[in-house]
Amino acid sequence: LRRSVAVGCGAYLPERCLTNHDLAQSVDTSDEWIVERTGIRQRHIAAEGELTSDLGIAAARRALDHAGLTIDAIDLIVVATATPDETFPATATRIQAALGMTHGAAFDVQAVCSGFIYALTTADAFIQAGKAERALVIGAETFSRILDWQDRATCVLFGDGAGAVVLEARDQPGDTGRDRGILASHLRSDGRHHDLLYVDGGPSSTKTVGHLRMKGREVFRHAVVNLTEAVEKTAERAGLSVADIDWVVPHQANKRILDGTAKKLGIAPDKVVSTVDRHANTSAASVPLALATAVGDGRIQSGDLVMLEAMGGGFTWGACLLRW
Ligand code: ACO
Repeated sequence: LRRSVAVGCGAYLPERCLTNHDLAQSVDTSDEWIVERTGIRQRHIAAEGELTSDLGIAAARRALDHAGLTIDAIDLIVVATATPDETFPATATRIQAALGMTHGAAFDVQAVCSGFIYALTTADAFIQAGKAERALVIGAETFSRILDWQDRATCVLFGDGAGAVVLEARDQPGDTGRDRGILASHLRSDGRHHDLLYVDGGPSSTKTVGHLRMKGREVFRHAVVNLTEAVEKTAERAGLSVADIDWVVPHQANKRILDGTAKKLGIAPDKVVSTVDRHANTSAASVPLALATAVGDGRIQSGDLVMLEAMGGGFTWGACLLRW
């Protein structure tokens, strides 16, 4: 059976780190409030002139090095971002050019915080269909650019960063107990929830980039329910159970969402990879950033069963199960 096997990953964070204490200098908030409600202690912020593509390029180079591959081996680049460099062309094509790739195809996918799950599932579908051999899947965001820095209810929650995974087509025995690679995924959206999380502007409406608006409490309420559904459905599709999962790598929105989802699923907290304290919510970058962290520090080992999950604006949500 032809499957997409993850052969490398990498991540990049901008140098500048903004702590809760730093934020408390400019908005009416405190380290105690932010830590208690979200688990976030700091976030990284892109420098002036540092673009989403720059973060994506750095993460992509690290993922290629980790895989022991050069860009010549890649024939597909899919970038998940809600903060592209420009309205068009796709940030993926800028990354493609910077990496020196002149063959294959590159495009963006937009599903906000679920973007990486959507991008990975898209690349996997290309590979399974025989339309690509090796894909670079990148989540890259500069949410600092779309935040209202006067709105304490949202500006404390997000950060910038990028992460990337290299997928390679490999023939596998077809047994989910032994096969490496992506075993199943499940994507969902429900556009009726637009008003709970959106950016109030864009080329077709206001012609300018707006700011992120969110009804936090409502988003929270949906998140645990939707993420639980995504994880259960994905495990079921693979013919496996939630108890088989070695690691959950969730979208890093909020520690309480991570804890609440794990509890509902009956997953032990030490199986959940959490970077939200250091990275905050980096939208489409958060899953590959957390994944690269847990692979880098040796927690995730070859053969481990890893569940990636996310939920974001739209709403969109989903999960992807792979054997590392
Ligand atoms: N510092 C201090 N006080 C604050 C801050 C802040 N940064 N932000 C809000 N408050 C105040 C509010 O003004 C309010 O004050 P009031 O009672 O005087 O009106 C009070 O705190 C409580 O506000 P709530 O919004 O009800 O606080 P809540 O407990 O719901 O926590 C939070 C807010 C952290 C945003 C929470 O709702 C949440 O995490 N929601 C999930 C949102 C999320 O993670 N979105 C990410 C995108 S979607 C995704 O990735 C899943």
